[in-house]
Amino acid sequence: MTQLTATTSYKQLSGYEIPIIALGVWQAPADVTRKVVYDALNIGYRHIDSAQAYRNEKEVGEGILQWLSEDPSRKRSDIFYTTKVFLHGYEVAKDTVKESFEKVKDLEYIDLILIHNARSNKKLRLETWKALQEFVEDGTTRSIGVSNWGIKHLDELFDSDVYKAKNIPVSVNQVELHPFLVRSQLTDYLAEKGIIAEAYSPLTHALRLDDETVVAIAKKYNKSPAQILIRWGLQRGFVSLPKTVTHSRLVENYEVFDFEIGKEDQEKLTSLDENWTFSKRFGDQLYINDITDEQYEAQLNENFPELYSLLTKKA
Ligand SMILES: NC(=O)c1ccc[n+]([C@@H]2O[C@H](COP(=O)([O-])OP(=O)(O)OC[C@H]3O[C@@H](n4cnc5c(N)ncnc54)[C@H](OP(=O)(O)O)[C@@H]3O)[C@@H](O)[C@H]2O)c1
Repeated sequence: MTQLTATTSYKQLSGYEIPIIALGVWQAPADVTRKVVYDALNIGYRHIDSAQAYRNEKEVGEGILQWLSEDPSRKRSDIFYTTKVFLHGYEVAKDTVKESFEKVKDLEYIDLILIHNARSNKKLRLETWKALQEFVEDGTTRSIGVSNWGIKHLDELFDSDVYKAKNIPVSVNQVELHPFLVRSQLTDYLAEKGIIAEAYSPLTHALRLDDETVVAIAKKYNKSPAQILIRWGLQRGFVSLPKTVTHSRLVENYEVFDFEIGKEDQEKLTSLDENWTFSKRFGDQLYINDITDEQYEAQLNENFPELYSLLTKKA
């Protein structure tokens, strides 16, 4: 394994580099987001993962700009900022991404825009991709990708005229990944295509940090369970997106470059896989599996009627 450091980044298919550790800001309240982003940048983080649905894009932009403004040697290109488009459809994606850009316009561009999930149907997914292609072309964003997409959704995109017309690559697929949800088939597929796998909820949303195997391995390396889970993902080649609004944990989650999990322990962690997902309640586990669009829509309608009607209305 290549030596991983706090400044390691991977080259995306777009040609742009992506830092391997990010601060995730889902559920970071808007009023603390600016400070937590600013603090993270002072610690050394260079990558922030937000989304329209997190309702804190503006505050992420403010935290980044505050940090940049304090030292002329700091450059916009030092930072990697991601957001995600939530609603599907050409017009609605164009409109909402423009709003996202307006919120951070002093950043001049967004590094990566992802389609937040696959929750619609083929037509709407392709239309959303078409909108994102145009944001690459006009310079709003440098790279585009997807999140919560399964193999079938990616294949559907690659086979489409929309994709072939421009050939703008899918740089990233961001999905839930940790030792309890290993998803080898999907990550092998992504590796084969050169698409970066981003591990969301790398700390299991803090629900499995007391697992006895994880705790025992943490003790052995004199690290915390959280550090072990982040490091496991990094050693599998993923970009990791731990979230915290607690200063001590911000520091802790970044201190994962001074040790390496040995092969046997790494395998022990991987063998914890039980297809367990914290985000099951959001339905994304269902979407990522090979279910049909009809099942998909029925699930959405059943579990998230408001979202379903919003999507069908706006599309
Ligand atoms: N694309 C998607 O659909 C999607 C879905 C989920 C997540 N994500 C991305 O992935 C990021 C992370 O996922 P997540 O927020 O679900 O969960 P996570 O990072 O797995 O866990 C976050 C939880 O762990 C706690 N925590 C953080 N560091 C800790 C540490 N060192 N020791 C103990 N507890 C710790 C946090 O508490 P405090 O904050 O209170 O410290 C919070 O409760 C999100 O912020 C988002 O950027 C994307």
